[in-house]
Amino acid sequence: MIIAIDGPAGSGKSTLAKNLARALGWIYLDTGAMYRALALQAQRMGIEPDDAERLSGLAQQIVLELRREADGEQRIHLNGEDITHAIRTPTISDLASRISVHKGVRNAMVAKQRALALQGSGLVAEGRDTTTVVFPNADLKIYLTASPEERARRHQHQLQLQGIEVPYEQVLREIQERDQRDRMRAESPLMEAPDAVRIVNDGWTKEQTLAYALELCRQRLGLTTPESLYGRSTTP
Ligand code: DC
Repeated sequence: MIIAIDGPAGSGKSTLAKNLARALGWIYLDTGAMYRALALQAQRMGIEPDDAERLSGLAQQIVLELRREADGEQRIHLNGEDITHAIRTPTISDLASRISVHKGVRNAMVAKQRALALQGSGLVAEGRDTTTVVFPNADLKIYLTASPEERARRHQHQLQLQGIEVPYEQVLREIQERDQRDRMRAESPLMEAPDAVRIVNDGWTKEQTLAYALELCRQRLGLTTPESLYGRSTTP
């Protein structure tokens, strides 16, 4: 069974997908982390973000592993190296958005994502095109979004937790630029699938977003999880 979640940067889709996968005991597929890993490797090799040919070749060559550690946290390994933290910088966010416009890069990534889906019986995937291109037949599709201002506040907070200080105005501008590029690109742009459930989570806590999604899983897929996993009840 597959649950696919798409949405713009800072909508909380990684947190929701991670929490949902943990609650259901399923695999969590962070497709953005895969584009970020490629961006990091390209940066290290000095490949320009507009060099579609070399980037597409590199996307096919790199070995990416998503591993759940004993502490329950998921880590991403690039050619055997743990790069979980190295890919969470503003520079890599920007580069990932730039390199992901190329068709060859996307084809290679989508193939890897579908292969990962075959490894388990349940998968929660999130990104920009998981509901439209990667898993068009997903059992449940969610489009998660919030206002740019709210998403910028969250993103700034996340960066602060990593010790990275960026002024709010700059975070907002970068989020808006990334939104624009992710939505306007020719290949698999960020789009709301017609059969996705739209969730706008301005002002919601992550527990409320999870509770809402778990309720959707119960209603649409007949999936149940322990009551204790439901935060404050929010009815879809
Ligand atoms: O979700 P994220 O912020 O980690 O994603 C980083 C970039 O990767 C995003 O700006 C665009 C790209 N991306 C993509 O093109 N398709 C996906 N399915 C996921 C991410």
